[in-house]
Amino acid sequence: MLTKAQLKTYQSDGYLLLKNLFDKEEIGLLKEAAMHDRELDRRSYGRADGEGGTVRLSIWNHPGNNIYGMFARSARIVEAAEDLLGGEVYHYHSKMILKDAKVGGAWTWHQDYGYWYNFGLLQPLLTSVTIAVDKATKENGCLQVLKGSHTMGRVDHALKGDQAGADMERVNEALKKFPLVYCEMEPGDAMFFDCNILHRSDQNRSENARWSLICCYNAARNNPYKESQHASYTPLVKVGDDAIKSSALKGFEKESQSDWVSPESDKTIEKLKS
Ligand code: SIN
Ligand code: MN
Repeated sequence: MLTKAQLKTYQSDGYLLLKNLFDKEEIGLLKEAAMHDRELDRRSYGRADGEGGTVRLSIWNHPGNNIYGMFARSARIVEAAEDLLGGEVYHYHSKMILKDAKVGGAWTWHQDYGYWYNFGLLQPLLTSVTIAVDKATKENGCLQVLKGSHTMGRVDHALKGDQAGADMERVNEALKKFPLVYCEMEPGDAMFFDCNILHRSDQNRSENARWSLICCYNAARNNPYKESQHASYTPLVKVGDDAIKSSALKGFEKESQSDWVSPESDKTIEKLKS
């Protein structure tokens, strides 16, 4: 249960950092599973960042019984998302951001709702939580946000490389108005962010990988009015605090998914090209 002060912070800043939401053992299990998960690797794909690099990510729509699902379904996360969105939520999708040492690409300035608006969502009633698998620093391309920029509402997006980039005229004005925050995180920290907050991240030229698991939630009352590449309302079955430790390193190789978002099914780019 988030406190009133935490809710207020999220509402005014557009993000909320929860330090040590997961302990060393839990995040260690996630890292171990992810690093050795050939299926996660095989399903990953790149999106050119328009700066000569490519971001790599794997995306799936429904949380299963593997270790990623235990994080996405954990009551610690889901109840916080419910507090932030003011009611029942469901899992919209999860993704692993695979920002590898030296070669990890950049994410251009965008709002998540800049992408998701096109997927039949009438209201911006979504939140994402980024969970640091590795230590995230300025040097290895941590997430950056413009604090308070979610209050701008959705801005237009256009294609930049293979990514949806927010209208730079507005971003440049926003940069004068809202503080730029580098969200440095320790493994196990979790940060919720509003679907309309402007965010980006730099390429990773450091020696250290920066992987993050991002789980996204939509309010149940905001079910998309048409089918899209991400999940429509599906009741979310929460799991308790011991679930991650008892999932014993089960990655996708042990329990695969049939609902991967692939380069072919990723409609983000197509929509912006048309
Ligand atoms: C994203 O916007 O989905 C990823 C940003 C990041 O973690 O660098
Ligand atoms: Mn994003």
